[in-house]
Amino acid sequence: MPEKTDLIGEGKAKKIYATDDPTKLIFYFKDDATAFNAQKKGSIESKGELNLLISARLFRLLESEGIDTHFIEEKNEREMLVERLEIIPIETVVRNIVCGSLQKRTGHPEGEELVRPIVEFYYKSDELGDPMINDDHCLVFDWATHGELEEIRHQAHAVNTVLKPFMAERGILLVDFKLEFGRTHDGRVLLGDEICPDTCRFWDSKTHKKLDKDRFRHDLGDVEGAYQEIARRVTN
Ligand code: TMP
Ligand code: ASP
Repeated sequence: MPEKTDLIGEGKAKKIYATDDPTKLIFYFKDDATAFNAQKKGSIESKGELNLLISARLFRLLESEGIDTHFIEEKNEREMLVERLEIIPIETVVRNIVCGSLQKRTGHPEGEELVRPIVEFYYKSDELGDPMINDDHCLVFDWATHGELEEIRHQAHAVNTVLKPFMAERGILLVDFKLEFGRTHDGRVLLGDEICPDTCRFWDSKTHKKLDKDRFRHDLGDVEGAYQEIARRVTN
């Protein structure tokens, strides 16, 4: 199994290490939490372990349904071995229910069910605060090719088609989520990053209680309990 070598990058929630295999990386999941482009900072106890557990379960589910991902295996409670990707600088958001910035942008009420899923692109830039972009921006600024955008959109819908019923069976509404994609050394577009309560909105189906990072963003309390509840339900 590849072993960790140099620290090559650090994001808000993860550290990224090279390994002795140039095609593989190790992600270390931290407890640090940020919101509103890091204007709000904090820490959620055990978040790293819970997010790794949840991400690994959901990546395995996607793989079993024929959607390739960068996930290879867990190394331990905090570390995940993944395929090395050249990250495409686009954050892809899929929405099933109105919440967050879609509510702000449209004035539609939180909780309104969409007649079909919406896929949105944001430019991955902390400096600029991840502004919303469209296909033309991606093409003109060379962030992705037309073929890659088609592949990203197709995979984003496919992920939603797998995750939504899986979560529904566990009493959870998949409100929306963010995905990141990258290029493998042989030029394929592959799903990367993580899929967890930091990057998804999960509501209890009956009570609509928020079981995700919105509890941290908006000081709703019991953040760790929400992450534990999601971990319990997805691993069941
Ligand atoms: P939004 O409603 O704030 O645009 O968020 C949409 C989804 O994207 C939501 O599930 C949370 C996730 N998200 C991230 O993963 N990272 C971010 O920086 C932001 C703003 C949202
Ligand atoms: N992760 C993002 C940040 O700190 C924002 C968020 O998740 O709300 O900037």
